[in-house]
Amino acid sequence: MGKGASGLEVPEFGARRVGVDDKRIINCRADLNQLVPFKYNWAWDKYITACANHWMPQEINMTADIALWRSPNGLSEGERRIIKRNLGFFSTADSLVANNIVLGVYRHITNPECRQYLLRQAFEEALHTHAYQYVIESLGLDEAEVFNMYREVPSIHDKAAFELQFTDELGDPNFTTGTPASDQRLLRNLIGFYVIMEGLFFYVGFVQMLSLGRRNKMVGAAEQFQYILRDESMHCNFGIDVINTIKQENPNLWTAAFQQEIRDLISEGVELELAYAADTMPNGILGLNASMFSEYLRYIANRRCAQIGLEELYVGANNPFPWMSEMLDLKKERNFFETRVIEYQTGGALRWD
Ligand SMILES: [Fe+2]
Ligand SMILES: [Fe+2]
Repeated sequence: MGKGASGLEVPEFGARRVGVDDKRIINCRADLNQLVPFKYNWAWDKYITACANHWMPQEINMTADIALWRSPNGLSEGERRIIKRNLGFFSTADSLVANNIVLGVYRHITNPECRQYLLRQAFEEALHTHAYQYVIESLGLDEAEVFNMYREVPSIHDKAAFELQFTDELGDPNFTTGTPASDQRLLRNLIGFYVIMEGLFFYVGFVQMLSLGRRNKMVGAAEQFQYILRDESMHCNFGIDVINTIKQENPNLWTAAFQQEIRDLISEGVELELAYAADTMPNGILGLNASMFSEYLRYIANRRCAQIGLEELYVGANNPFPWMSEMLDLKKERNFFETRVIEYQTGGALRWD
């Protein structure tokens, strides 16, 4: 099979035109600089939807959060710990995701419509880091303390180290796809980031921050997290579509041994996220406790397994936070999303008069 094109080749003059059937997600030799004809409409549709969902962190009013944070009795110690730990985890996590796209995954994805989405996603990761920085600055937190948590807080460090193993491998300039073994390493990276990082490691923090918002605390930060959750859920869905399409196009990669390797990675991810839940919330608060997170993570892990065609890891796990599904189902959501979308679609239009 051999590795695919990079997009850096000098166009071959007069060569045959690209047809839909030439296109493949990995190891494709067809010209990567021609967006059309589309083969993977799901990738283009997600790019269009992501652009329609555009938002900026500074648009969200942080006044109530600042007052609450400064008020000596506004928040309990447990609530303050949750806020700081989550800002600590997420403020570097989104840089890890962005770096994985730009320095790891992008050059190995040999399809222009998927690359178009990856470029949009990379920008959204920058916006997320911006949002966390904006919250940290608004609250007047110790920036060095927050941004160093992935080096100083074990539960945060362990999740980051787990993810960096995947980027490290693909970022190696000598790494190329094109053999079953190396193609499996790429798939492993995609599962490590799209399924475990964005599909599992973000969810304890999302539940905790949105729970604060549901209790009318830190409503600005909670709104930022709600926009981010919307973006992340699309990133996760995009990754799952990419993973499943690679599997479909290269069925030889999905061996029993490889499936077992992935199941082990996902259960390791569940353990790391459970340790993070216990560390961020040593005592039950906000109506949440560690055993609920244990159940929730098992439930999500099952769902992720099913989405990529693996057997469930934790039979019978239930969702203790059904309201999270409503947050994800944006059609049912309060219409502030809708108004923002409309503002962008009209406000962003150029005027020439
Ligand atoms: Fe993100
Ligand atoms: Fe993301």
